[in-house]
Amino acid sequence: MKTEVAPQCLLEKRSLIEDIREGREPGNSAPELAGHSLSFNSEQEGGRDLVTFIFTLRKVKNCALSRAINIFEACEAQIHHVESREVRKGKGGADDLDFFIRCEVLSSRVITLINSLKKVAEDVSISKEEKAPWFPQKIQDLDRCHHLITKFEPDLDQDHPGYQDLGYRERRSQIASLALNYKQGEPLPKVEYTTEEIATWKEVYIKLSTLYPSHACKQFLDAFHILEKDCGYQEDNIPQLQDVSSFLKERTGFHLRPIAGLLSPRDFLSSLAFRVFQCTQYIRHSSSPMHSPEPDCCHELLGHIPMLADKQFAQFSQELGLASLGASDEDIEKLSTLYWFTIEFGLCKQNGVLKAYGAGLLSSYGELMYSLSGEPQYKAFDPDVTAMQTYQDQTFQPVYFVSESFEDAKSKLRNYASKIKKTFSLHYDPLTCSVEILDKPHKVKKALNQVADELKNLCFALDKLA
Ligand SMILES: [Fe+2]
Repeated sequence: MKTEVAPQCLLEKRSLIEDIREGREPGNSAPELAGHSLSFNSEQEGGRDLVTFIFTLRKVKNCALSRAINIFEACEAQIHHVESREVRKGKGGADDLDFFIRCEVLSSRVITLINSLKKVAEDVSISKEEKAPWFPQKIQDLDRCHHLITKFEPDLDQDHPGYQDLGYRERRSQIASLALNYKQGEPLPKVEYTTEEIATWKEVYIKLSTLYPSHACKQFLDAFHILEKDCGYQEDNIPQLQDVSSFLKERTGFHLRPIAGLLSPRDFLSSLAFRVFQCTQYIRHSSSPMHSPEPDCCHELLGHIPMLADKQFAQFSQELGLASLGASDEDIEKLSTLYWFTIEFGLCKQNGVLKAYGAGLLSSYGELMYSLSGEPQYKAFDPDVTAMQTYQDQTFQPVYFVSESFEDAKSKLRNYASKIKKTFSLHYDPLTCSVEILDKPHKVKKALNQVADELKNLCFALDKLA
């Protein structure tokens, strides 16, 4: 939007409101450029703030309120809430009122609004609310959660085993492009794997399978056996995401979507909130079957999928995702550290013996052996401590965190999440796969009614059994 600035003589006769519309501080003399064109581009003005104004208007009956409201209008402030009350006794007359106005306004206009209000009101004070970062509220919004971290890709990372292999890079990029075009709800892309790719898978599969019985937790082993029986998990076959997704949907409501590479922590955690796990489909380079610097189908299918078939673990994963929605960058960093030391590199104790449940361990022969060797440091999972631990993405972890059980880990995580500073609460509706912001009492009541209906249903079931 462009605004012409009028010559000095005209500006002096302008009203307060006109001053504001011109984007100037009210009452100030005209800019030195008066008479020249002044560019005013709202896109360059930055974001919008939620601001609460508290001020006193004297003699409200004499149009003081309409003058104040006109200032909000002139600043294009969107008023959300207005309250007034009599000024405390001894501090004002009969027609003096205190006002509370909550509004949303362009950040660049807040100072102008304050200075303008001070011309018509007394005791002007404000408080700004932090606006939460955007987050998906329905499952279709995950189509916008596709920001990749490209530093470990073979086109950019000289240490990637496939960096020198142009054929590999083209093939990886061809498979990744299937994910780039994917939209929520579509069938998952099918990949016809080559003989060389299946040979790489076979090498990884056979080697890791020998360790699972002694190193993996019970939940992993139970699901892995079913996957081998019903879902195409064989040394000569790389399972298709669509088959695996249908399997998970039946067991825990989790389902998969394809992704073109390593996702940003915020986008990745967001998808967990909707019980969606984003999976790569390309496979590591054949020269390095036991190591990949980036996630690949061996890591996803062998490391992650079996655990996502466990109800408690699935719930833990979703809670982590829900905690991330609308969280600050600082909290996202802590939550992704928690993700790292649990879902990727977590250990648990079963019958007094340490077992692995993290996908980073269960898809890496070397680190799976090392993590349970007694050599590294072990600490009890405590979200406040774990979230602050520095982690390693180039070599083995110096420390691993041990959960007593997924139930215990979930309860600790829930307690941690409740302390994350947010100005709103959320409710996930599994029927519509959407989250609702609980910013009004009637919304909380509606969510409570759903829970109450479910409780009644369970009580009837108990009565019948009795
Ligand atoms: Fe992973």
